[in-house]
Amino acid sequence: MNKITIAIDGFSSTGKSTVAKQLAKHLGYVYVDTGAMYRAVAYYAMQNGLINQEYFKVEALVSQLSNINITFKFNETLGFAEVYLNGVNVEKEIRTLEVSNFVSTVASVSQVRKKLVEQQQKFGENKGVVMDGRDIGTVVFPNAELKLFMIASAEKRAQRRYQELIEKGDDVDYEAVLKNVQERDHLDTTRKDSPLVMAEDAIEFDNSDLSREEQFDKILELVSLKL
Ligand code: DC
Repeated sequence: MNKITIAIDGFSSTGKSTVAKQLAKHLGYVYVDTGAMYRAVAYYAMQNGLINQEYFKVEALVSQLSNINITFKFNETLGFAEVYLNGVNVEKEIRTLEVSNFVSTVASVSQVRKKLVEQQQKFGENKGVVMDGRDIGTVVFPNAELKLFMIASAEKRAQRRYQELIEKGDDVDYEAVLKNVQERDHLDTTRKDSPLVMAEDAIEFDNSDLSREEQFDKILELVSLKL
């Protein structure tokens, strides 16, 4: 069957990765979580004293980019690929609210974006890929056959993220999660390099009031039109 590239962009916590994973599994495609790659760079910066509440040593981070090696390895039990930073599995470490609080700042650095975009384009060079992020349909794969742009209210998204963190045992409060979602929306849409915008040929998809199953069925219909 004809293999295509599926780009899923949108605001944070719109359920992009859930649907991207479901689609990849269903189609036998590779799933790439590009947010995880930016999170891994942010985590590196935190671990190496390059970013905290007071400062961000941008130049030092840029000069160390060649030391940052991000890879994915499929986990059979989980059914998706986990992210590794310099050979160490950091899947859990990169999902904390602390990393979320620094990641948009790190992701606004052009040299960081250039490095990660090149790697993402390699992952997708043979098609048969579902990639989620903020700039997949606009920058990484402007020729993707199917582009989805996921939206949902900030409150709905914060509620989902809050629930996920609580279920993982993180001690967070809803207001802090909502604040993080709103701040990231602002930083992601206003940054100079590759801001979060909907590609002209993307399909806007509001899942505020859809169950996971309803959302998947609707998206699968859109996919089948492209195959
Ligand atoms: O999808 P996520 O919430 O895990 O992404 C984390 C951050 O990474 C997000 O706030 C912005 C940034 N990001 C980006 O700038 N470009 C992408 N393609 C993916 C994520």
